[in-house]
Amino acid sequence: MAEHSGPDALQRSRTILRQTLESLQRSGVQQLARPPEPMMPVVQEVAIVAEPPPEPLPRAERPPPSARPRPAAAAPVRPPAADADAGARSAPPATPPAVPAPPPAPGPRSAALDVVRQEVARCRRCAELAEKRTQTVFGAGNPHARLCFLGEAPGADEDRRGEPFVGAAGQLLDKIIAACTLRRDDVYILNVLKCRPPGNRTPLPDEVANCREFFERQLEIIQPEFICCLGAVAAQTLLRTTRPVGQLRGKFHDYRGRQVVVTYHPSYLLRTPEMKRHTWDDMKMLMQAMGIPVPNG
Ligand code: URA
Repeated sequence: MAEHSGPDALQRSRTILRQTLESLQRSGVQQLARPPEPMMPVVQEVAIVAEPPPEPLPRAERPPPSARPRPAAAAPVRPPAADADAGARSAPPATPPAVPAPPPAPGPRSAALDVVRQEVARCRRCAELAEKRTQTVFGAGNPHARLCFLGEAPGADEDRRGEPFVGAAGQLLDKIIAACTLRRDDVYILNVLKCRPPGNRTPLPDEVANCREFFERQLEIIQPEFICCLGAVAAQTLLRTTRPVGQLRGKFHDYRGRQVVVTYHPSYLLRTPEMKRHTWDDMKMLMQAMGIPVPNG
């Protein structure tokens, strides 16, 4: 193929081309059609020239992240639950937001307690209390609590709010619970009486007898391992004794297989703060039995 390469071959090609064009001209052809565009050089040019980055779209027009290509290796990282809200604020979620989970259905204990609660709300066994109460105060807390606090009867604040121990005595009880490294949500709080005795007088024996059924049923449903009686009315009613708190505290008692601790009522402690150290001793005894680490001191 030596004749097709080198200056001679080029010269020959030019001669042939010129002769061809002259021949075409002689036969009347004035203009030749353009040969088709060569493909490869164009494709290569496009391939090697870097495309300028597109102008960023205004924020409102950006496609949602789900429409943007994702690098295969960069799996989306879910924000931890606590940050979920912040994550949602900074970028819309790739998938539609989850519908918030409904609150957990009340368990059998809550349902059983609600049955008693409704009976209590309708109760008129003690005519005077039923007439004078704003509402009954059933009890509050964790139906699965290991520890129940049993008080005496609602006061004015509790009668108004419908919850046990929400007044000044309640604030001290909150501190006692916190000192035990527990939260109010960990325990269940109830009273012997569900109605406020007028003027906060001491409950009458008949009133206690009328109401006994209700707190006994509450305790049967909750099945606490431990009961802490706050004050003489709670302790003497639960344990069916007439002994004073000073003799009952500092040791464990039994109520239907549950361990009972007796201590001073928070209202009494508010009036007699020097007795708080005894209550703290009682709480330390209780914590030890419950397997809760006792702070030093
Ligand atoms: N005192 C109680 O015995 N119970 C309450 O709920 C409030 C004060």
